[in-house]
Amino acid sequence: MASLQSSLVLLSTNHKPPSTAARRFHVSCSSGGRGGGGVDRRDMLLGLGGLYGATAANLNARADPIQPPDMKVCGVPEVGGVPLDVNCCPPVSDAIKDYVLPPVGTLRVRPAAHRLHRHHHGHLAKYEEAVRRMRALDKTDPDDPRGFTQQANVHCAYCNNAYDQAGTDIPLSIHFSWLFFPWHRWYLYFYERILGKLIQDPTFALPFWNWDNPRGMHLPLIFDNEKSPLYDANRNPLHRPPAVVDLQYTNDKPEPIDDERLVRNNLASMYKEMMRVRKPEDFMGQSYVAGDEVPPPAKAGTVERGSHTSIHRWVGDPSNPYHEDLGNFYSAGRDPAFYSHHSNVDRMWTIWRGLRTRVPKAIYDPDYLNAAFLFYDENKELVRVRAGDALDNRKMGYEYEDVDVPWLYFRPPRRAAGVKIKDISKTAQRPEKVFPLTLSRIARVLVSKTAPGAADEDLVVEHIHANPDEFVKFDVYVNSEEDDPKDVDNAEYAGTFAKLPHRGGRGGHHSHDKGKGSVRFSLKELYEDINIDGDDEEVVVTIVPRANGRHVTIGGIKIVKA
Ligand code: C2O
Repeated sequence: MASLQSSLVLLSTNHKPPSTAARRFHVSCSSGGRGGGGVDRRDMLLGLGGLYGATAANLNARADPIQPPDMKVCGVPEVGGVPLDVNCCPPVSDAIKDYVLPPVGTLRVRPAAHRLHRHHHGHLAKYEEAVRRMRALDKTDPDDPRGFTQQANVHCAYCNNAYDQAGTDIPLSIHFSWLFFPWHRWYLYFYERILGKLIQDPTFALPFWNWDNPRGMHLPLIFDNEKSPLYDANRNPLHRPPAVVDLQYTNDKPEPIDDERLVRNNLASMYKEMMRVRKPEDFMGQSYVAGDEVPPPAKAGTVERGSHTSIHRWVGDPSNPYHEDLGNFYSAGRDPAFYSHHSNVDRMWTIWRGLRTRVPKAIYDPDYLNAAFLFYDENKELVRVRAGDALDNRKMGYEYEDVDVPWLYFRPPRRAAGVKIKDISKTAQRPEKVFPLTLSRIARVLVSKTAPGAADEDLVVEHIHANPDEFVKFDVYVNSEEDDPKDVDNAEYAGTFAKLPHRGGRGGHHSHDKGKGSVRFSLKELYEDINIDGDDEEVVVTIVPRANGRHVTIGGIKIVKA
């Protein structure tokens, strides 16, 4: 611990040691923001709170990375203001080692789960045996951190706000920010190594659920065998194989849609999530540093708030109060399918980093690279890991089986003729008339562009607030002729916002959730696809609520230069 912190200070002499900073933010938060005074930390950094004179230099060294929680301080998780009748606090240990990645010998190759059945039968047998042994630990040694329930609890503790940021009473949460990918990567890394250790196979690799490829667009059969340790009864019975997954899933779909259309919509969703990204934060999630409140869902990256959320919701059992198991973070890790789902999420990160698009792929901010977490490794030792050591999966000793990536080529066909803005704007209103908006019905807004035609611009949907207790989803279209667009495999679809019920906290102390965030959709390619008129100075933006729109408010919409 000490060595990492001191190297951190050396790395960036502008940084205050983390403990001081945490205390500083804690004090300013409790005196201003938390009780409802509404002083936003960002305002303080910009000097608006009167506490900080912001200069370019200290904006750079604005804070400190998120540090691991004090595991001794671990509370009861809750959802929707109701404390859950579960204790998901991992065992406590004082012996914390800084984790050093072991030298890589043979890479573990994570196979596509739908291929295990036929092509890797031996691998399936090992996987089942490993999970069987992991489940057995629950009974023989419930305090062994490698047991199945203990492993599931790791997700619950970090995700339903059972922990605080060390030394503060600000809950810690690793969703909805740039920590999403590295934290989950480390989580699966140790899960995989534990499974391998339990069967004495150091090359064991976790299968990934290839839901972005038509061949993998159903729950993998290996999870649907009731006799297998990979089975979980807490799933939506209507979505057993061969039901085709819906990467735009909402429970209130107006009408059932046929499989072929589903597949097309799924590929189109993946294309937009992966290829229409302008800044690393749009994909990775936005910044989250020491002293920040729990990030609002709008700070999540495209995959996290899109396909990732849909799969959780699609698999969980709607007859359970929180759609357990996959439908809520506290219970998600109890379903073995979770780890294969997240393995594919992780694979999306690997694929995205390898894309030859012009978007920069790396975040160099030390507040990102030095964010740190605690996990138990395969030898039951508590280790401290850094986000910055999780950037390259091959350095971590694993890679993914090579399979087709068909969404790469799923850019929507260009429209032969663009719409006339005056024909579609009749049903649209000016932003002044619309915002702030509660999304109880479809909104059509006429938004001014920064320059005419196919300019390099982004659409920003601002100050999104979604009720923490509810599953929420809405879609955004540009220049749609339809008042009620349904599909997403078209040029007009810009992107999606979706989130699971997420509120956590301890006994209600942190149940007020004021977080708002903005989501950006990139427009340059979309303009080309919709064949926008070179003279157009406005577009019609259609926001379509898909689930619980009445629980969403949006502060405004604007188009900005990219
Ligand atoms: Cu930590 Cu998909 O959730």
